[in-house]
Amino acid sequence: AMRDQTSVPISIKLRTGWDQNSINYLETAAIAEEAGVCAITLHARTRAQGYAGKADWEAIKALSEQTSVPVFGSGDVLSASAAMSMIRETGCNGVMIARGAIGNPFIFSDIHELAHRRNAEAYSNKPPSLFLESPSNPESTFIYRRPDIIAQTALRHLEMSTKYIGETRACIEFRKHFCAYTRGLPGGAELRAQAVRCSTIDEYKPLFEIITRIYS
Ligand SMILES: Cc1cc2nc3c(=O)[nH]c(=O)nc-3n(C[C@H](O)[C@H](O)[C@H](O)COP(=O)(O)O)c2cc1C
Repeated sequence: AMRDQTSVPISIKLRTGWDQNSINYLETAAIAEEAGVCAITLHARTRAQGYAGKADWEAIKALSEQTSVPVFGSGDVLSASAAMSMIRETGCNGVMIARGAIGNPFIFSDIHELAHRRNAEAYSNKPPSLFLESPSNPESTFIYRRPDIIAQTALRHLEMSTKYIGETRACIEFRKHFCAYTRGLPGGAELRAQAVRCSTIDEYKPLFEIITRIYS
């Protein structure tokens, strides 16, 4: 019915079902496809699960097999290598990333590079002192990410957010993002303790400078 009301493409996103006893995604997706959706995204957990347990990638595979429109997989893609694994294991057409991008917007370019095997040395061949432990990338223990790039990107994020919602709200909201950007950085705990008191960009700037100096 919505399909007939608009020329805008309509896609849907669903979970596998309400709970283990009402797994209904294949049926729901088939109805949606019949109704004319252009793409289907599946977060492969039940509503009752919330974020508990592991996403059921087998469900993404089953959906991909029965569906003619593009299928996007969602759930537990927390690293570039996980994105490649999901595509390989499920045959989905694309992945959707949520938690894995928090504090790590680099995940998208990481996937691009991994998919195209460009710059493979960025993952394997840097001096050990430049490898940083990355909790967002549990599959390969170390990933190369220069702290000065993190600081520069985080500041840009904060400035863009300020344009949307104003400096005070952006700075308060950014406290949680700052924590995510600095996870695993040497001295990160002390930086986060200071960030939770920042309400202006100028108050954040010395923290970004400290991060930048980790690499110099
Ligand atoms: C901050 C945040 C906001 C989200 N907002 C939405 C939303 O508006 N609509 C939706 O369908 N899913 C939303 N989700 C769920 C994600 O799209 C995704 O299906 C789920 O987090 C599992 O993927 P992940 O393992 O990559 O986080 C959100 C998730 C996060 C972390």
